[in-house]
Amino acid sequence: MANRIVLNTISYHGKGAIENILPELTARGYKKAFVCTDPDLLKFGVTGKVTALFDAAGFAYEIYSNIKANPTIENVQTGVAAFEKSGADCIVAIGGGSAMDTSKAIGIIANNPEFADVRSLEGVAPTKKHAVFTIAVPTTAGTAAEVTINYVITDVEKKRKFVCVDTNDIPEIAVVDPDMMSTMPKGLTAATGMDALTHAIEGYITKGACAISDMFHLEAIRLIAANLRGAVNNTPEGREGMALGQYIAGMGFSNVGLGIVHSMAHGLSALYDTPHGVACAIILPTGLEYNAPVAGKRYRAIGKAMCVPGIDMMDDEQAASATIAAVKQLSADVGIPADLKGILKDEDVQFLSESAFADACRPGNPRDTSVEEIKALYRGLM
Ligand SMILES: NC(=O)c1ccc[n+]([C@@H]2O[C@H](COP(=O)([O-])OP(=O)(O)OC[C@H]3O[C@@H](n4cnc5c(N)ncnc54)[C@H](O)[C@@H]3O)[C@@H](O)[C@H]2O)c1
Ligand SMILES: [Fe+2]
Repeated sequence: MANRIVLNTISYHGKGAIENILPELTARGYKKAFVCTDPDLLKFGVTGKVTALFDAAGFAYEIYSNIKANPTIENVQTGVAAFEKSGADCIVAIGGGSAMDTSKAIGIIANNPEFADVRSLEGVAPTKKHAVFTIAVPTTAGTAAEVTINYVITDVEKKRKFVCVDTNDIPEIAVVDPDMMSTMPKGLTAATGMDALTHAIEGYITKGACAISDMFHLEAIRLIAANLRGAVNNTPEGREGMALGQYIAGMGFSNVGLGIVHSMAHGLSALYDTPHGVACAIILPTGLEYNAPVAGKRYRAIGKAMCVPGIDMMDDEQAASATIAAVKQLSADVGIPADLKGILKDEDVQFLSESAFADACRPGNPRDTSVEEIKALYRGLM
């Protein structure tokens, strides 16, 4: 089967990258930006780093910030109405996965109004037109939503998150500037960084992995393992390495899929508002142990990218165990809890397992699974 690879048309990387946003907009003749962001980013002056450049140049924009973490259908629908009222002709998404995902759904519905209910976008959405022209500026390192063809929306009524996959939603331009991430507190840096590691690892062992995605994922694992601890301590090298590592992971997983760690994590965020990265990080070692009988031979390369000492001298089984131990150690070093005690309630396990089985990431898991097996995995973390 042929492999399809979708990436941004243009991306900028490194300190000062945000200075390219305005020239990219004006070169295309855009007149007014719809700036999609969230309330905390406004409060902490993160969004202001970009809008100050618009103010200085007299470039028109309108801010939309009715976006919560794990964004909802309502966040999208009020956003579509605000976009239409604003008279803006382009979108600038500034934020973590929540703001970028909301802006992707807004941009899609604005140009494909037959999907205004949002729910019909779940899975592979048959939209006909590309989203409104978008420049995405991540402020976490992270989801890589700036380069993925996915977005994740929470259905509050049905208590579930759903993944939409659509090549029409990829932002034309990504601006990945580590200075936009330097205000992240330690806990958020750790959680979003472990989300990125989960993307790289699940993407490396997913059923659809190919030579191009392998190249991205192994480099992403190397960068994240080398830089996450530094980023948590806010070193410039750590921030730079994580900004790049999470983006490269996105270049991979967006094109080949993920697995049950993400499927199991989505339900926890929908039910308990658990931050996405925390949920992924806690479940990742369990996912690796579960997948070892099928994908364990691939763990050596992951361990090598994480610089596990002596891994070349180990047999496959030892290399797999040492790799899982290195993942657990990194997670512990950045302060992520080891299990779901205090988060997961026994009465929700059945519902969560069914949701995880129905999740769009599950078919990509290297080992075929079942609701019963997922139940056992959740219970093992309680
Ligand atoms: N589109 C994709 O491919 C993809 C991939 C993975 C996850 N996701 C989704 O992304 C969402 C999670 O996104 P996230 O982990 O980036 O977090 P987030 O966008 O939910 O943000 C979490 C909190 O961190 C704050 N924050 C963000 N950047 C900051 C900064 N620089 N300084 C200070 N505070 C900052 C935000 O204001 C918010 O309060 C989830 O809904 C998840 O399902 C999407
Ligand atoms: Fe994720």
